[in-house]
Amino acid sequence: MKDRQLGEIEQALVDVVRVALTGDTDGVRQLSRRLARRPPIDAAHSDALKEELFALMATAPPGEASLLRGQLVTDEASWVQYPAGVAAPILDPAVQGAVNLVVAEHSLPERLHEFGLAPTRAVLFTGPPGVGKTLTASYIAAELSLPLITLNLASLMSSLMGQTGKNLQEVLARAAEEPCVLFLDEFDALAKSRVDVSDVGEVKRLLNVVLQQLDQWPLGGLLVAATNHPQLLDPAVHRRFDTTIEFALPAFEERLRFLRTSSIAPLRESDNAAQRIVALISDGWSLADLESWANRAARGAVMATDGGPVDIVEAILQAAQKRARSWASQSVQTRAELSRLAADNLGWTHRKIADWLGVSHVTIGKDMKRSGGGIDA
Ligand SMILES: Nc1ncnc2c1ncn2[C@@H]1O[C@H](COP(=O)(O)OP(=O)(O)O)[C@@H](O)[C@H]1O
Ligand SMILES: [Mg+2]
Repeated sequence: MKDRQLGEIEQALVDVVRVALTGDTDGVRQLSRRLARRPPIDAAHSDALKEELFALMATAPPGEASLLRGQLVTDEASWVQYPAGVAAPILDPAVQGAVNLVVAEHSLPERLHEFGLAPTRAVLFTGPPGVGKTLTASYIAAELSLPLITLNLASLMSSLMGQTGKNLQEVLARAAEEPCVLFLDEFDALAKSRVDVSDVGEVKRLLNVVLQQLDQWPLGGLLVAATNHPQLLDPAVHRRFDTTIEFALPAFEERLRFLRTSSIAPLRESDNAAQRIVALISDGWSLADLESWANRAARGAVMATDGGPVDIVEAILQAAQKRARSWASQSVQTRAELSRLAADNLGWTHRKIADWLGVSHVTIGKDMKRSGGGIDA
């Protein structure tokens, strides 16, 4: 046995079997992670192998649950994910460009190294809730075939006060050990409590653990933090990030693109006109808002019939009209605004807008004039 030389593939296989036989699922995970990261040199299909391993790890049930009361779950399955095949988030082109750049830098670090540069280490995502910050973190990890280690600082802070410092340190240390995307969600939870005078000692300790990690975060690693309240972060924290990517509420075009990929098949496959109407009335919403609104309307439509045919798109359009009417009834100004949007984005005549909103077309004409020009009725 001893003098026979095993190839890298055979050796990997033997290692996996050896560890698996001891029942050490964490060990198996670790081995497969290593394999995915650095496939055996004699592997003929290393990309496919990588994909398979990531898909396996993404769907494998968590190992032995070891949730002890008041302790961070030590089973890494609770905070390590292996995102695979995440569809690109729908973002404004500038934001998409910034995200792509981070991915490109980490895919081809050699290019930067040639010029003595290193890829972006720490990036801060800011923006309102539901615009895709968490989704984008997982998309980046999937694109880079890296595990995503997520720490939600808000829940960590609230549920684990007292021992958070130690647990946090453990997870962060573990994250720094091997290639991964470390995602610190609700990052402001740290900073926010800094201005709160209660719990000063513990919070300061936590903040220091994280700041230290930010400073020591290894070159080549990628740390992403997300916050809905960037104004709560003090300059000392901001300074530690190489880049800030500002996620905004989606514009009409992004909402329309999102509807074309909607999880509600009839809406996804419906004609452009219906989708444009929904995109129009969702002005000011996040994509998460839009998704749950459309789902609610669709569910309502299904439940309103007893097994007969359902026109989900029609129901969504009715809900859209209802929303448009209530929006228009708020003030002359909002009605004018909505009419302008309908004229510009849907190409509707005054008469059609008037019918939709349940007012006379003369009214719409006046509104449009007041709000500056417009198309003919
Ligand atoms: N930019 C986006 N592209 C695609 N889907 C999105 C986007 N923003 C939000 N969503 C939908 O809303 C859900 C919640 O988004 P999430 O990433 O958690 O937002 P955030 O982290 O900014 O609060 C996502 O899982 C997705 O279904
Ligand atoms: Mg989020």
